[in-house]
Amino acid sequence: MSRRREEARTDETTLSEGMKRNIELEGISKFAQHVELTIDELLLNDKREHLTNAENKHFTKPNLEGATNPLEILKRTLSVRSVLSTHSSFAERMKALRNADPNNLCLAEIGCGSFGRVYEIPGTEWCLKKTLKSPEAMWIEFINGKKISQAVNNQAATAILQSEEFPDDLMPRVPRYLCSYGMEDFESTQRWFRNNGHMFPVENGGQKPGPVICLERIMPLPKLVRESLIQHYFNPEKQAAALADEKNKACICRAYLGCESKEIPPAKLEQQRETLQNFPLYLDQLLELEMDPQIIARDMALGLAAGHWAANIDMLDVEYVIGSRPFMRENEIGPISKADIKAAKEKSNRRVRNMSAKNAPKQQRLSFRNRAIRLWMIDFNKAETFDASLGRNYDKSIAQLVANTRSTDGPYYPRVVAKNEYQWKLWVCFARTYIRASQTILTETIDRNRAIGLSYRSKDEELVLKRPVYIINEWIKAEATEYGISSKQFKKMLQDNKWEMP
Ligand SMILES: Nc1ncnc2c1ncn2[C@@H]1O[C@H](COP(=O)(O)OP(=O)(O)O)[C@@H](O)[C@H]1O
Ligand SMILES: [Mg+2]
Repeated sequence: MSRRREEARTDETTLSEGMKRNIELEGISKFAQHVELTIDELLLNDKREHLTNAENKHFTKPNLEGATNPLEILKRTLSVRSVLSTHSSFAERMKALRNADPNNLCLAEIGCGSFGRVYEIPGTEWCLKKTLKSPEAMWIEFINGKKISQAVNNQAATAILQSEEFPDDLMPRVPRYLCSYGMEDFESTQRWFRNNGHMFPVENGGQKPGPVICLERIMPLPKLVRESLIQHYFNPEKQAAALADEKNKACICRAYLGCESKEIPPAKLEQQRETLQNFPLYLDQLLELEMDPQIIARDMALGLAAGHWAANIDMLDVEYVIGSRPFMRENEIGPISKADIKAAKEKSNRRVRNMSAKNAPKQQRLSFRNRAIRLWMIDFNKAETFDASLGRNYDKSIAQLVANTRSTDGPYYPRVVAKNEYQWKLWVCFARTYIRASQTILTETIDRNRAIGLSYRSKDEELVLKRPVYIINEWIKAEATEYGISSKQFKKMLQDNKWEMP
């Protein structure tokens, strides 16, 4: 065959391949339209599939038989491994709102921090975060969030899962970051708000223009848990009002492993126990509720290791919260399966233009009725990328990374300067899991780099794998110094108590 004919043939093949792909894409696009997802979401859902199924195995439904008081109900239902069916108004409302006109949506506020406010997008698994402060910091949150969610939910979670070394642990989830609005410049923020501002609540500057990002929503804890939390922890005089307060529907708890509630000034504790938005669960409460703090410590360690070594982010000011997410077993609602996409494509090739609901693949909607309670990581507007390459200022960069990591708005991590053996063991469990998980993630990265021809000298490789140990040592040093304890005194304390190092 002459070169010219061969080239022509190649062009022809490319053209027909291209057309075939276009038709396939049209099929996928129609299917996406049918299930009311964007193509990106559709593909993302498909990508998440094997992880979701692997994750599902960790969750069990609690047995509520004989649970009569709020504490007993909480002990059975509230854990980072339970799945609950909820018949609360929430699931109904979400379902009803799916068909609502998007122009008339009312975006209720579901959370607020010192930087931004978060609003639910009813009927969806998404929410909006808006700030009236710095657009730059919002942009950082968006970029960090995208990077961290991809690195943690996909890359690191897969590495941890495939290593088979952490069979009982679960990577905390990071909300997916979908898109941003009105972020280009001041004019675009104003324009976006002229069209959409009316959907925000009037209170708390809701209708004031500000940059907005759209991210995956952490679903609240189910009604049974919310009611029991109020009945068990709230001041009796405030319970009736709290039970009736709509705001308490957006209930998310914070997991504080590093502090007990008795260490909090009573007035502050009482104030914290007036709302279920960001309800703190201190170590003694986690024990009282039989939530097994060791499990939470291990999950937290996986999340931190993933943030550091898969995303290379220092995790400054990150929050660890307990919330839920829609839960599906493979054979129940099930994420969109490859078979369904294939079926959609086949249909699209034949009769895509009249794909009716009857002919379409089975509805693959998320159900808000079943919810898995788990640990999440949020809030990335202060976090920064750190240089993970092997630099000269090695000790300095480790010390800086540890200082930034430990700087959180709450005592999330277990404490190094433990008050008793349980607290020390909790720290050791966190530290050991962090080291092992970090090394697993780093090894996977090294292997991946090697596969594309990038290799380390074996001395450097050793050094890279030692970093997590240096971080833990630096962490111990930094916390002891904070409490005015010298390394010598600290070592003596461990020896006297016969406590072993991580
Ligand atoms: N993806 C989310 N889904 C549901 N609630 C959220 C989500 N992100 C944040 N929140 C709630 O809103 C609060 C404020 O959000 P956060 O990101 O911490 O803002 P800030 O940067 O102001 O601290 C959080 O503490 C949490 O209660
Ligand atoms: Mg915050």
